[in-house]
Amino acid sequence: MAKITFHGHACFEIEGNGQKVLIDPFLNGNPLADTKPENITNIDAILVSHGHADHVGDTVKIAQNNDAIVVAPFELASYLEKQGVKTHPMHIGGAHQFPFAWVKLVNALHGSAFVDENDIRPTGNPCGFMIEMDNVMIYHSGDTGLFGDMKLFKDYILHGRDIDVALIPIGDNFVMGPDDALVAVKWIAPKIVVPMHYNTFPVIEQNPEEFKKLVEDQTETECLIIKPGESFEIS
Ligand code: NI
Ligand code: MN
Repeated sequence: MAKITFHGHACFEIEGNGQKVLIDPFLNGNPLADTKPENITNIDAILVSHGHADHVGDTVKIAQNNDAIVVAPFELASYLEKQGVKTHPMHIGGAHQFPFAWVKLVNALHGSAFVDENDIRPTGNPCGFMIEMDNVMIYHSGDTGLFGDMKLFKDYILHGRDIDVALIPIGDNFVMGPDDALVAVKWIAPKIVVPMHYNTFPVIEQNPEEFKKLVEDQTETECLIIKPGESFEIS
């Protein structure tokens, strides 16, 4: 059984087999985050999908506080290692069995650069994650537009399983909007879809209830709208 907790934007905490993984921890500066980096405890690993600030977020601080390993595409991992964290670099198409989970990096159609006041540092390709924890397969798409290879995910048996839960953006502008996210749900056909990456900023405002209705009228997938701080369990 895996327990999935939403912390706002694209940040999820996944717990299974007594292990905890955090994804894209953008907490400080996120007006919708339910918690602070210092309240995130007992994390074994942090998965970071790309170099944008709303995904790298508080990775360095939380990794150091928890002595957690950071898993990211090679170029981003190399950059974060220079910031003083332990990393495990991976890349698109590669999978690895960690003590905390089985993780595979998949495509995301997006950019990836770390942008600060002084500089724009390229950090390679962005990615999505396939994560298997305690016999539950979770797809966190990262930031992405719709791409045709999502069709593969429907019958794609990963590590002996198909996809139980898909965490996908609906915010539009930078990522898929609701219409493309609906197509993604049809192509991926997960048991559960959780919309993310919306309402954090005015430019990505969406009504998730409208998305839920589209999904549940047109597919067999259940759409779970979870608020920051809420969790659900799946086995
Ligand atoms: Ni991004
Ligand atoms: Mn983003």
